[in-house]
Amino acid sequence: MKEKKASFSGKIGFIMAAAGSAVGVGNLWRFPYLAAKYGGGIFILVYILLAVTFGFSLMIMEIAIGRKTKSSCMSAYKKLNQKFAFLGPLSALVPILILPFYCVIGGWVLKYLFEYILGHGVALTNDAYFTNLITVQNGSLLENPVLWFSIFIIITAIIVMFGVQKGVESVSKVMMPVLIVISVVIAIYSLTIPGAIDGVKYYLIPDFSKFSISTILGACGQMFFSMSLAMGIMITYGSYVNDEDDLEKSVSQIELIDTGVALLAGLMIIPPFVAFNGGNVAGIEAGPGLMFEVLPKVFDFMPFGGIVGLLFFTLVFFATITSSISLLETCQDIIADQFKISRKLAIAIIFIFSCALGTLCCLGYGPLDFIKFFGFAALDFFDVLTNSILMPIVALISCIFVGHVLGLDAISEEVEKNGHKFGRKKLVYIMIKYIAPILLAGILIVELLKNLGIFVL
Ligand code: PHE
Repeated sequence: MKEKKASFSGKIGFIMAAAGSAVGVGNLWRFPYLAAKYGGGIFILVYILLAVTFGFSLMIMEIAIGRKTKSSCMSAYKKLNQKFAFLGPLSALVPILILPFYCVIGGWVLKYLFEYILGHGVALTNDAYFTNLITVQNGSLLENPVLWFSIFIIITAIIVMFGVQKGVESVSKVMMPVLIVISVVIAIYSLTIPGAIDGVKYYLIPDFSKFSISTILGACGQMFFSMSLAMGIMITYGSYVNDEDDLEKSVSQIELIDTGVALLAGLMIIPPFVAFNGGNVAGIEAGPGLMFEVLPKVFDFMPFGGIVGLLFFTLVFFATITSSISLLETCQDIIADQFKISRKLAIAIIFIFSCALGTLCCLGYGPLDFIKFFGFAALDFFDVLTNSILMPIVALISCIFVGHVLGLDAISEEVEKNGHKFGRKKLVYIMIKYIAPILLAGILIVELLKNLGIFVL
């Protein structure tokens, strides 16, 4: 049973849905940490420069492929060139493997949000709280991460069940503006904390001594993840975009929101962290440690910390749920496209698969910690496999395919449809043909060496 291809109701719906996908935990916890590590302003500068060149080019390429082929990534590449059909299943694997563990992280966020709603923010400042949660130390149901993961994935599935316009789009249209307002409010409030100014300086003033090739590769990897590239999402969303819409303008606006929220996240987190930490930035950690262990303490130290914590975790929840709906929407598009089944059945299949893999990830630090994949706990393994290996490979091959086999004119024809001018056409051509493949090969090599333990950046 093949249903009629869904579409967004208009430009705003598309921009909000795509920005909803792009803005996620990457903006909120990874960006501030990387900026602190790689020299503040200099990292920000490099990031913005890469976002408007490299990121812009990859995003417009994927969206144009989606709109041109009106298909999921699974058959889009096949339609463009039989020899590159293998890129379909390769890119389809990425969202299918990310969705389960992303919902596990979403579950942790939901649990923290729940505690702040109950006014229990102080309990979260306990050093062992997070470790106890993820290792399932407490027998009570409310302390079990599988419960929170299940609620999170069920909310995601219900939204996606409603369809592209009534589900994905309408939720994003409400959550994204609220998310932006909350970001601005917390960022402004953070700046008023005594001692915050040292953190602002640390964040914004470039420290050139920390600039190296790692700054560029770090910024590159971050941008790639943050803009939801190379995971089939932008191809699926592109296939829902109306032919009349101006793709170039939309991509610029999506980027503006994504980068804007990342910059605000740095202002929300670094100044109060520095004030809390006696004027220095040492100890601002990567990954979950920052969000789930350090931030509750920082909030507790701030006046009205319970409210800031509540607002912050509402913001993180909105950011993660709009990203997870983009993942589930893409997965269902892939499965429905491949097996020619209905949307509902495709959602059910992905839901069951994700529940199984997600539960494994949930319990992989606790009761199931004897199950290791190449020495990694389940969640870490799927994270490394998708982000560090599959995504750069998919992006690299697709740039080579579009730049050197298909030809970029296919992309510009799509962008220029209905008389739109493709202002940054030359830039996109140079990026996709020459610069992106070099940067992507660099990311891939560094990530491989890092994960094999040969080299640490
Ligand atoms: N772009 C999201 C972020 O910045 C990450 C993401 C991953 C989104 C997977 C969707 C799917 O956090």
